[in-house]
Amino acid sequence: MIINWIVLDSLFLAITALAELIPRDQLFNDPKYSGVSLSPDGHVLAYLAPNENSISNIYTKCVTCKHTKVVTFDNKRHISGYQWTGVPNIILYYQDNDGDENYKLYKLNITNPSPLNEPHVISDKPGVKAVVIANNLRDRFVLVGLNDENPAFHNIYEFDLYTNEMRKIFDNKRFPAKIIVDNDLEIRLVVEEGDDGSLIYYSPSEKANSKKLTSDKEMWVEYLKVSADDRPLTMPIAFTADNKRVFWQWGAGTDLGQLVIHDFGKPDENEVLYTAIKSQIGTVLFHPTDRNILALSEVYHQPEIYVANDTILNDMQYLVNLRPSASPVIESISRDFHTWLVTYASDERPYEFYLYRRWQQKAEYLFTTRPELIGRKLNRMVGFDFPARDGLRLQAYLSLPPKAELLTPAQVNGTDVELAKLGLLPAKPQPLIVFVHGGPKARDVFGFS
Ligand SMILES: *[C@@H]1O[C@H](CO)[C@@H](O)[C@H](O)[C@H]1NC(C)=O
Ligand SMILES: *[C@@H]1O[C@H](CO)[C@@H](O)[C@H](O)[C@H]1NC(C)=O
Ligand SMILES: *[C@@H]1O[C@H](CO)[C@@H](O)[C@H](O)[C@H]1NC(C)=O
Repeated sequence: MIINWIVLDSLFLAITALAELIPRDQLFNDPKYSGVSLSPDGHVLAYLAPNENSISNIYTKCVTCKHTKVVTFDNKRHISGYQWTGVPNIILYYQDNDGDENYKLYKLNITNPSPLNEPHVISDKPGVKAVVIANNLRDRFVLVGLNDENPAFHNIYEFDLYTNEMRKIFDNKRFPAKIIVDNDLEIRLVVEEGDDGSLIYYSPSEKANSKKLTSDKEMWVEYLKVSADDRPLTMPIAFTADNKRVFWQWGAGTDLGQLVIHDFGKPDENEVLYTAIKSQIGTVLFHPTDRNILALSEVYHQPEIYVANDTILNDMQYLVNLRPSASPVIESISRDFHTWLVTYASDERPYEFYLYRRWQQKAEYLFTTRPELIGRKLNRMVGFDFPARDGLRLQAYLSLPPKAELLTPAQVNGTDVELAKLGLLPAKPQPLIVFVHGGPKARDVFGFS
């Protein structure tokens, strides 16, 4: 598989706005819109928003309608997340108990929203954290993990979205909840931490019955051992549509990692599809049903998009040109591939959402996640490098106070000329806050925060 990667460039446009102090609550309140997503059929948008009592609930809006409607009616506990499913109008949502992160999981039919519609409780046991382990947005089943016997390990259940039947398919006393499932909701890999900090992947052995797994030794065979050093850059990311091959981000033998593919079961026969250039691979965009790679991004200073498949080249170029100083992020794609939900990472504005209709090659503006910030001046976030004491380069961002006067390249000499070109040199010293984030794999990224 040889891919011609094409990098997308954009122009930089300056935006003027008022540099006034922004009230703190406009930056830190719950956003007006969050968790925005598109239904698998591409007809309905959903999002979380605070209701009139400031409790986060789920709202929907059909993509051709003007009106939104609330579909959950909770006045006590925030809804912390939700998912569409493969069954029309059936959603799953999470709530916890005052922030304890032991999520309860519910199923709700949103065909005729009403406070009288009781959700079906999938799990609300105290002290149990429900996790949707797999949801392919296609089948009548999802896989749900519940740590209902041992707080450290999740048993896996197949939940039927029509009949509400819960069937335990994996009695798990050994593996953490990072369970890798294919496009048909079949459990293909589990992981276990090695004593040396490595991560060991196991696949079901010949003795294993995929609908009746246990964590017994003879059920699992070692698939791959990933060294402690390579762990941050190594993980399976998707199966091909036929579930025979698997895409991975791969750390071994490179500095920044690669995108590879191998036949399932043959991790030593990797085919390299992409080698990271400046920074580790960020998001990888797959076709929703063909499951082939369309594009990926790397974030060094700003996200850079590499297109793998010409089919979407014009679409991506259109989206890049639409907001030249920001970077498009494809949030969801309908299963027919026609309708995309797109947002933009930007330092100058909060996330703005667009609905992109592929057949028209046109994006419709939907909303900004924090409408109260429209017209406010947000600080630029300028990425730059500097040498650390050990001589290695570090990546960082600088945001100067919006009113700080800047030196121009003509006013400085030597290496300062480049810094002045980036807009990094204030004429007078400014108060400084240094945010040293954790490492080695955590980092700050470009965009509203
Ligand atoms: C959802 O509700 C509608 C209307 O009551 C009903 O026709 C449909 O069968 C329900 N869906 C499921 C999966 O139960
Ligand atoms: C590009 O993507 C389309 C849609 O999934 C697919 O039909 C086509 O085979 C892909 N082309 C390549 C070269 O992979
Ligand atoms: C740049 O360097 C030259 C030569 O050292 C010096 O004459 C000039 O004043 C410097 N300019 C600035 C803006 O510092």
